[in-house]
Amino acid sequence: MVELARGLRLPEPVYVTRPTLPSLERFRESLEQVWDSRVLTNGGAFHQRLEAALCARLGVEHLSLFCNGTIALLVALQALRVSSGEVITTPFTFPATPHVLHWNGVTPVFCDIDPVTFNLCPEQVEALITPRTLAILPVHVFGQPCDVEALARISNRHGLRLIYDAAHAFGVRAGGRSIASFGDLTMLSFHATKLFTTIEGGALVSGSAALKARIDFLKNFGIADEETVVGPGINGKLNELQSAFGLLQLEQVDVEIAARRAVSARYRARLAGLPGLRLPPLDAPGVESNCSYFPVLVDRERFGLDRDALYAALKLFDVHARKYFHPLCSQIPAYRALPSAAPDRLPVAERVARQVLCLPIYGQLRPDVVERIADILWALHERASRG
Ligand SMILES: Cc1ncc(COP(=O)(O)O)c(C=O)c1O
Repeated sequence: MVELARGLRLPEPVYVTRPTLPSLERFRESLEQVWDSRVLTNGGAFHQRLEAALCARLGVEHLSLFCNGTIALLVALQALRVSSGEVITTPFTFPATPHVLHWNGVTPVFCDIDPVTFNLCPEQVEALITPRTLAILPVHVFGQPCDVEALARISNRHGLRLIYDAAHAFGVRAGGRSIASFGDLTMLSFHATKLFTTIEGGALVSGSAALKARIDFLKNFGIADEETVVGPGINGKLNELQSAFGLLQLEQVDVEIAARRAVSARYRARLAGLPGLRLPPLDAPGVESNCSYFPVLVDRERFGLDRDALYAALKLFDVHARKYFHPLCSQIPAYRALPSAAPDRLPVAERVARQVLCLPIYGQLRPDVVERIADILWALHERASRG
């Protein structure tokens, strides 16, 4: 292995993602405008411009910016009065998803996932509905759209709220529509690790002006005007500096998506046929993905190494893949005693969490580096299968 690593090791570490930053010169110009205005936060001009620009880019009508995606999701539940009972969600997600349920006094009910998309399995969702169920909280994991039609049918049939965690799905389209336009509310995350970023940040996309107005009160302490506090709100505002950063980021997001698409295509071309490595699904008809992640499944028998051994071996070459999402949220101590968290109820999620590995992908990942990562994966397989 040492010999192999010496030959193929990358000259500098490659991480799972890296943000593409806007021009510092242009950001300085925006900062000068903020300095001149002395308006630093509370829905200033940059905040308003970013909300409008995001609506235009995403093809949605009502969007509220937030300081991060977690607070946005917390407020989404409050806005729809989901603050007791049970909500059906996926265990194959980032911990923020079940945590916002917990913080709202709701019991998460974990449901197994689809083996291809890794998203909530609609038939199993329906089987978990009880008189205590108030909502469904699916995640478009890795930007792969959920079965939005089936989930809409189920939520309508049972009178449930449908709130999407689209933290990974900026710019994704399904059935000719923005993925952010489905359900009662959709949350987006603009964290630094995301395709489109405001450093920290997020948004809620609402289906109506009235719901957006309620959300805008809730994210500003419930304050309607100087003398009126309409409800128990919180502070979820995005400031002017980050909004200005977001406007510059937005100008380059389509170039970033195209560049990630090229990285994804290169991985696919080079890794096709590598035994024991299952590549992410190709876009289904009507789906436009954003290629924000490149999750592979590692089958130990055929690849020759299991996921953990491959993850550790890649580090020797300075390739820092990530085990998203291991451990499953159902295994987090706060949730693992829940009946729905039992591993035998979540066989697909348990297997995927054991096998999944997200390879590095970002717009500025050079073609020769992608080629080298593919060479390393082939070499590791060949070495492992020689025994
Ligand atoms: C699926 C998912 N949901 C929620 C979040 C939380 O978003 P934020 O970091 O913007 O609070 C993240 C990631 O950060 C995520 O990956």
